[in-house]
Amino acid sequence: MTKKQSRLFFLISTAVFTLVFLGLTLHSHTRFGELTHADKMSAQVVAGKDVWHHNNCINCHTLLGEGAYYAPDLTKITQQRGEAYLSAFLKDPSKFYSEERHRRLMPDPELSDTEIANVIAFLDWVSQIDNQGWPPRPILVSGATFPGTNTTSASTDSEPAEAQRPASVAAGERLFNDASTACSGCHSIAPGVDLAGPSLAGVGERADRTVAEAGYTGEADTGEGYLRESIVAPSAHIVGGERFSANGISFMPTHYGEKLDSDQIDALVDYLSTLK
Ligand code: HEC
Ligand code: HEC
Repeated sequence: MTKKQSRLFFLISTAVFTLVFLGLTLHSHTRFGELTHADKMSAQVVAGKDVWHHNNCINCHTLLGEGAYYAPDLTKITQQRGEAYLSAFLKDPSKFYSEERHRRLMPDPELSDTEIANVIAFLDWVSQIDNQGWPPRPILVSGATFPGTNTTSASTDSEPAEAQRPASVAAGERLFNDASTACSGCHSIAPGVDLAGPSLAGVGERADRTVAEAGYTGEADTGEGYLRESIVAPSAHIVGGERFSANGISFMPTHYGEKLDSDQIDALVDYLSTLK
């Protein structure tokens, strides 16, 4: 190449790539409204964003992978935890975590009830942003009890037994540990390990007894029916009292009846029934 040719090559390729870059940037801008559900950005969401900034939540947490890595990522938290739990947690984080056991504690942000409702609305809006799969998986901060960290799976040490298990039980176990349901973020299956929800060790056996108890307040008449009810209508019968509920409302999310189809719920029930 002569000097003149290389200058021309430089100028033309710079121009082409500048155009491509500008084009892509413009294209992104035309899609932001749609991807971020701008129409759902209500006054409450905006007020919640102010609460988020005023209290420097980002100094410890990440949203969409941005922020500090001291505490769990909250991008999808409203889908993982649900509103009842989050309002109780934000009112008094020390009720849910102990400094001794978890080695760190979220300071009480001392928010009013309105501020709590607003910041939850903001987090819920964030959880609905179409972030095209980013971050690729929940950011796990050690010590946090999040989906996928439940390593005490009953099946890991019994490979041969795996082959004899019905497919729906295996499917149920996968769903239970999957980030989309986040069951394992709140429930351990190890005896005595209560997280945000009670340990489900032995729940398959316990269910039959629960429906027969005098204090049972739900509508199921079999153990299996009770397990199904626990998933789709958590407040029908509350386990564990004040620790896991407030004013008769369970901290377990109420969205599973809509989020999961009936095959998925069947699979979860089949899996839970095996927890003896
Ligand atoms: C000083 C650090 C710090 C700040 C500031 C902070 N958090 Fe946290 N947060 C934590 C830690 C640590 C956890 C993990 C639970 C624990 O070990 O206490 C947590 C957990 C959470 C959880 C999840 C609870 C769960 O059980 O899944 C939510 C929701 C949350 N914080 C919201 C907020 C909001 C909203 C703010 C701002 C008002 C905030 N945090 C400010 C440290 C912080
Ligand atoms: C935000 C935390 C949270 C999540 C996520 C969650 N649960 Fe729960 N779960 C609870 C709490 C709290 C209770 C106890 C209060 C009650 O009875 O609803 C509970 C109770 C239960 C019970 C009754 C336990 C017993 O001993 O009778 C079952 C069964 C159950 N959950 C299954 C599930 C399944 C399956 C999923 C996922 C599809 C799930 N949970 C997701 C918090 C959660």
